[in-house]
Amino acid sequence: MKSLLITALLFLIPACAPGNSIKKTADLVFERAVVQFTGLDARLSPEQMPITFKDGKAKDGKLNEWTSGFFPGSLWLVYEYTGKPEILEMAKRQTAKLDGIIGMHTHHDIGFQVNSSFGNGYRLIGDPAYLEMMKAGAEKLSTRFSPVVGCTRSWNPGKRWNFPVIIDNMMNLEILCEVYRLTGEEKYLDIARSHANTTLKNHFRPDGSTWHVVAYDEETGAVEKKQTSQGFSDESTWSRGESWALYGFTMMYRETKDPAYLEQARKVAAFLIPMLPKDGVPEWDFNAPGTKHAFGMDAVGAPDPSVYKWRPGDPVLRDSSAGAIIASALAELASYTSGKESKRYRKTALKIVGTLASPEYLAAPGENGGFLLKHGVTNLHKWSGVDIPLTYADYYFLEAIQKLMKLEN
Ligand code: GLY
Repeated sequence: MKSLLITALLFLIPACAPGNSIKKTADLVFERAVVQFTGLDARLSPEQMPITFKDGKAKDGKLNEWTSGFFPGSLWLVYEYTGKPEILEMAKRQTAKLDGIIGMHTHHDIGFQVNSSFGNGYRLIGDPAYLEMMKAGAEKLSTRFSPVVGCTRSWNPGKRWNFPVIIDNMMNLEILCEVYRLTGEEKYLDIARSHANTTLKNHFRPDGSTWHVVAYDEETGAVEKKQTSQGFSDESTWSRGESWALYGFTMMYRETKDPAYLEQARKVAAFLIPMLPKDGVPEWDFNAPGTKHAFGMDAVGAPDPSVYKWRPGDPVLRDSSAGAIIASALAELASYTSGKESKRYRKTALKIVGTLASPEYLAAPGENGGFLLKHGVTNLHKWSGVDIPLTYADYYFLEAIQKLMKLEN
């Protein structure tokens, strides 16, 4: 009887193996995405790009918003998985909304915008007009590069910083690398490498955690300040910033095969993985009050207590977008490493994706304003964007699942 039970259990194990469970998760999530995004697509006017939804109200952005490429990008990923012609039609239509972006563009996030929309479209259907947009996007971003600083400028000069570079900007290097790969134009790869090398040198603490903002002197290239904009405080680690760092250096390794970038991605992963809660979805800042490694409200650069609404005993808000970005980056990093290390990355990515695909995070059909994931945050330092869906959380979640699926093959 006992041996019969053991045989039966052994027979059942493959059904629970990660490969099978990710396929099940993928089917569930991509089916849900079809329902959610069909509703979202129907609601949007030709000028609107979805950002979030709160208290029954949609918040949409315009073309120049840094998030404008993620809805078309998500549609391309859903088309890739499902092959549904109606999703292809939606992806093309939502991508076409970004046609005017080059002429009006004034910030560093052109990489996010162009790569997730036109970049995915070009990868999947090879429309030459999409390649032209990618080329124009890379050129536009390159105009923000300072050879003195060695980086592309993030925000324009303002009261606090003259030449700020945020860790998020690592993500915009992808368009430069892609266009180099597609056209052979070396200028773009040189800029991407210079930006990544300068960031590697100045943006990290010895433990692999990152500052959000490093401000440079534009005339000399010297570092002036290391501070935060969206994290809890200057010396805290904003989890989405850390996730951009992980993804950014993993991506730079993919594009260049420079071992220094792989090393940096590993270092970030070594810091980040032990900071994750049991279910894998990070708190919005690894040092926010209420976390295991909490800083006090007296930390340098901490938010104004009259703005920051968290009080002792309140749960610390999670950021599903940071979780999705980490999962996508780790699933890829797993493919560049081996043995126990690779397994650890894959296991962590699977855990995060499993949690995000549970009803706690995944929207029920027709709910959540047409977004997939709940519980993201945008800027808790200013207490804005509190516990909401986010278009980029959905995009990186879908991407993470696809990368995990690829690991199985
Ligand atoms: N790059 C903006 C953000 O991560 O919120």
